[in-house]
Amino acid sequence: MRLRSISLLGVLCFLLLTACTAEPPKEICSGEIWPDNQGVHVNAHGGGILYHDGTYYWYGENKSDSTSSAMVGIMCYSSKNLTDWNNEGAVLPVVLNDSTSDIVQGCVMERPKVIYNEKTEKFVMWFHLELKGKGYAAARSAVAVSDSPTGPFKYIRSERINPGVLPFDMNETQRAMLDTLDAEKYKEWWTPMWYEAIHKGLFVKRDLQGGQMARDMQLFVDEDVKAYHIYSSEDNLTLQIAELSDDYLTHTGKYVRMAPAGHNEAPAIFKKSDGTYWMITSGCTGWDPNEARMFSAPSIWGPWTQHPNPCRGKKSEITFGGQSTYVLPVSGKKDAFIFMADIWRPKHPSDARYIWLPIQFENGVPYIEWMDSWTLDFFDKK
Ligand code: DGJ
Repeated sequence: MRLRSISLLGVLCFLLLTACTAEPPKEICSGEIWPDNQGVHVNAHGGGILYHDGTYYWYGENKSDSTSSAMVGIMCYSSKNLTDWNNEGAVLPVVLNDSTSDIVQGCVMERPKVIYNEKTEKFVMWFHLELKGKGYAAARSAVAVSDSPTGPFKYIRSERINPGVLPFDMNETQRAMLDTLDAEKYKEWWTPMWYEAIHKGLFVKRDLQGGQMARDMQLFVDEDVKAYHIYSSEDNLTLQIAELSDDYLTHTGKYVRMAPAGHNEAPAIFKKSDGTYWMITSGCTGWDPNEARMFSAPSIWGPWTQHPNPCRGKKSEITFGGQSTYVLPVSGKKDAFIFMADIWRPKHPSDARYIWLPIQFENGVPYIEWMDSWTLDFFDKK
């Protein structure tokens, strides 16, 4: 009996001590320099985060001082608390001595995302690839794989998406309509007639044989571990959502178009505990910020409904100066999501900054307010 009360006292003392010595969460200050464990600003732009076995892994584009092309490759940083970041280095470096490689230094490697495949126990990275010296014409997706979250990732291939396949939800009437669309009639872009043709799938048809274009992109793993690739397609005019194979290394051929002719980039998706899928995107204005858009759907396949801009307050019309890149579900907390965005600095790309803000909800609808600084215990106070 006496022994029991001594050990109980011990446990209480231990808990008290841990509570007193536990560091309070650190502040998250969007737009500032974010030093890593070496005191250098985190260089992981257009990024996304994987939570695996108690650690967060942040993957992103390494930006150099003078060009937005890839001079180093895809970076990874690790953290237990989302505020102290260890530089794990370039986990998919560019290739230096082989000009035939897709990922030769000087190519474009954007918006990398990594997901973990429970069946194969592999970490799978997809990113937007543009071939060196070809501007943004290639519009390909590239895939790489690793046994460890900190790499090295083995580059597999780059490609356009689902060649020869039409969206699975396109009905017979829509397919028949597509057959009648004559590209010759729509040489002039941006006219109401052209928009209507884009809406009907003019560019899906144009790219049918070679595969659909894919630029800004996102990955999403659902509760049933099925994974989806969401990307700006059809010359950035229409988003597409495509299912990945069980090993996450290829596409299955099942895809839908989303917001046709809506001109969306930078898709960031999350799923609330009530089963609703939310997506925040941007418009298409190059490196300049614009007004965020938001959509919701009861299923990944839609129907997707557009809502007003989720950002509120000063500079909400330009997403506080940023462009969405990812929505991070905070581990262990219900419906706690961080909106992640990039403040691009195209004249000095490595000085691009990060916006991380908590997503709040009003009547179940997400909204985002600017905060000069906040801490993760914001989610406990909700
Ligand atoms: C906006 C995209 O979201 C970025 O990832 C990048 O591709 C720039 N456009 C290039 O202008």
